[in-house]
Amino acid sequence: MKVKILRQVHPGSKPYWEGFIYDGPTDISVAGMLDHLNYNDDIINDKGKATGRIGWECSCLQGVCGACAMVINGVPSLACETFLKDQGKDEITIRPLRKFPVIHDLVVDRSAIHENLKKTDIYIGEWQQGQDRDLDHQYLAAKCLKCGLCLEVCPNYADGRNFYGAVFANDCYIVSARNEKKSESIKNSYGEHFAGGCSKSLACVDVCPMKIPTLASMAKLNKKM
Ligand code: FES
Repeated sequence: MKVKILRQVHPGSKPYWEGFIYDGPTDISVAGMLDHLNYNDDIINDKGKATGRIGWECSCLQGVCGACAMVINGVPSLACETFLKDQGKDEITIRPLRKFPVIHDLVVDRSAIHENLKKTDIYIGEWQQGQDRDLDHQYLAAKCLKCGLCLEVCPNYADGRNFYGAVFANDCYIVSARNEKKSESIKNSYGEHFAGGCSKSLACVDVCPMKIPTLASMAKLNKKM
């Protein structure tokens, strides 16, 4: 299998494509394949030249940490949940998420997601159960991995400075449902950083690895507003 990876040595350097030949089993994930390519002491590219280890991130390898988010054959995906045998071709292209600054190869800086939640005080704090008792939906919304895939496909999310995307909307919903005292300030920040900018393409819903029904979070918040 041919593997093409968009690499970048450090944040300021120029990205470049590098090819590899993968000759291992195909019933493994892209994460497993990257491990396989990185396994030997000498990493050889498809031109037979020695090259550096491919940088990528992972923690759980079972689809629950979100660290391995990247773009695989054009689709923003989790590498540990994407299998080679499902790609339907013997070539695979991998690039880092485009909406975040690259740190090294496939590793990106997603701190904007957390900084935006901090700036707008979107964390539960003191639990004050409000009128919203839809615990099933609260549970679903709380499954967010903060992987950034929803932001990668969002036509409205650019750099996280004004519009904060689906990840923010879901957390606004959970916090407003769990801490009634914060409800008023959340209405304002939700309006400013989400509701006013969302064009409802709902690509975020399609790509979410946890299948979070963001549209339902939006409907509940819009009703509150
Ligand atoms: S390594 Fe945790 S989601 Fe892939």
